[in-house]
Amino acid sequence: MNQANLIILVLFYSRHGATRKLAELIAQGIESVPGCDARLRTVPAISTVTEATAPEVPAEGAPYVELDDLAECDGLALGSPTRFGNMASAMKYFWDGTAAQWLSGALAGKPACVFTSTGSLHGGQETTLLSMMIPLFHHGLMVLGLPYTNPELMTTASGGTPYGASHWSGLDGAKAITEDEKRLAIALGKRLAETAVKLRGA
Ligand SMILES: Cc1cc2nc3c(=O)[nH]c(=O)nc-3n(C[C@H](O)[C@H](O)[C@H](O)COP(=O)(O)O)c2cc1C
Repeated sequence: MNQANLIILVLFYSRHGATRKLAELIAQGIESVPGCDARLRTVPAISTVTEATAPEVPAEGAPYVELDDLAECDGLALGSPTRFGNMASAMKYFWDGTAAQWLSGALAGKPACVFTSTGSLHGGQETTLLSMMIPLFHHGLMVLGLPYTNPELMTTASGGTPYGASHWSGLDGAKAITEDEKRLAIALGKRLAETAVKLRGA
């Protein structure tokens, strides 16, 4: 890894792997841009049993995000499965602990995008994407979507929206990511990284 490269944080929560697959595609798009590295990070699950604690390092997959990741990144892709049309509480819980970063403007002026996965086709992809944008605006991030110059926005019969990347995983979570969903996720990661490079040069 080149130390001079821009770091684009891909921060996601995924219980069953569908959102993680989108995160990996977004990372692929980010790393297609010269000078950009994707840093994949997740958040621990939360529990109503307040004594329950997660191990410091997850048993597998992406490491848990640290608050320093927010200061260190040059851009952010944020992903969560849809939970009742909204982001998962584990992700919301993480953002509720970022008052110091909000106060210092650690993320202000950096580009961002959002992505999600749903069990049903009309179960809240857009609402979840919009709900994830709200804390990002408060942090001063510059939120990007996808333009209709991406032809897959007109052809997709499942996920992929102008508000961000998405995937329809199906009732049992078994649906594969379609070619349109894949192309749009990669395009979003690429757009985010290209914007981070332009902002760094500005
Ligand atoms: C508590 C709960 C609420 C959910 N709410 C919705 C919903 O509102 N709309 C929907 O389409 N899917 C909903 N789902 C399904 C998940 O969004 C879907 O399975 C998603 O693809 C899981 O992503 P993951 O594999 O990254 O964990 C819900 C799942 C759970 C467990």
